[in-house]
Amino acid sequence: MDLLSEETLYRQYMEFFELAERRRRWSVFDDIPWDTWQEQSRDENLAQCAETFLGVEMYLPDYVAEGLNLVRESFGQAWFQVNWGYEESKHALALKEFLLRSGQRTEEQIREFESKVLSRRWTMPHSTPRRMFVYGAIQEKTTWMSYRQQLNRARDLGDPVMAEICRYIARDEAAHADFYRRTLQACLQEDYEGTLKDLAHVVREFRMPAYDLLPDYDKRLAVMQVIGIDREVFFRDVLMPTLKKVGVSRRDLVRARGLLRREQGEDE
Ligand SMILES: [Fe+2]
Ligand SMILES: [Fe+2]
Repeated sequence: MDLLSEETLYRQYMEFFELAERRRRWSVFDDIPWDTWQEQSRDENLAQCAETFLGVEMYLPDYVAEGLNLVRESFGQAWFQVNWGYEESKHALALKEFLLRSGQRTEEQIREFESKVLSRRWTMPHSTPRRMFVYGAIQEKTTWMSYRQQLNRARDLGDPVMAEICRYIARDEAAHADFYRRTLQACLQEDYEGTLKDLAHVVREFRMPAYDLLPDYDKRLAVMQVIGIDREVFFRDVLMPTLKKVGVSRRDLVRARGLLRREQGEDE
């Protein structure tokens, strides 16, 4: 990869993996209090969001195939993709088991949903590793925020099972966001202006992965707003804290946007 040294990428992966192995491993079988679920905490919005998140997590084959191929020349990045894929695979499993074990979806309904979801294919929104690092930092943080909102909602409704699932998943998503954020930071150190332009580009085009591929997309979006996943929360809890952590001011981002516009104007 003609970006960052392999030494940096490998070190970042090892730091991530060590923490994951020592402090973050959890089991779908042993760590979720499945037996404590009660009928009175049934809530269709909560179930609908769990199903939507399951749908997004189910594009895993596309995420891994495309992601791995993009970074295959870097040991650190490629090994991250594989470990990331293992963690994401548990997210889908826990959500699916939640819907089935709580009786809120039947096996048949889930199978039908799965086949609708997988009848479409996810493709990468950007074609360069650096833009995908930026995208990863924002996207994983948005995913963390979504599970945190669902966690709060589950606690309010007294659903200890959904709450615990969301707590484990949100912790993984926060670690993923942190990994990409540190990679982004290293890119900014290496080439501030170039990375800043990529950042401005990715922020301008940002969409959550796969939501628009899911069946009943508009309805799902409306339900997510009910549990507090919207643009305002995105700016407050995702974008602004990420920019702050990597040391990019809003002014710099606006300046980079102007540069991009001018460059694109010249291209036309
Ligand atoms: Fe996930
Ligand atoms: Fe993630």
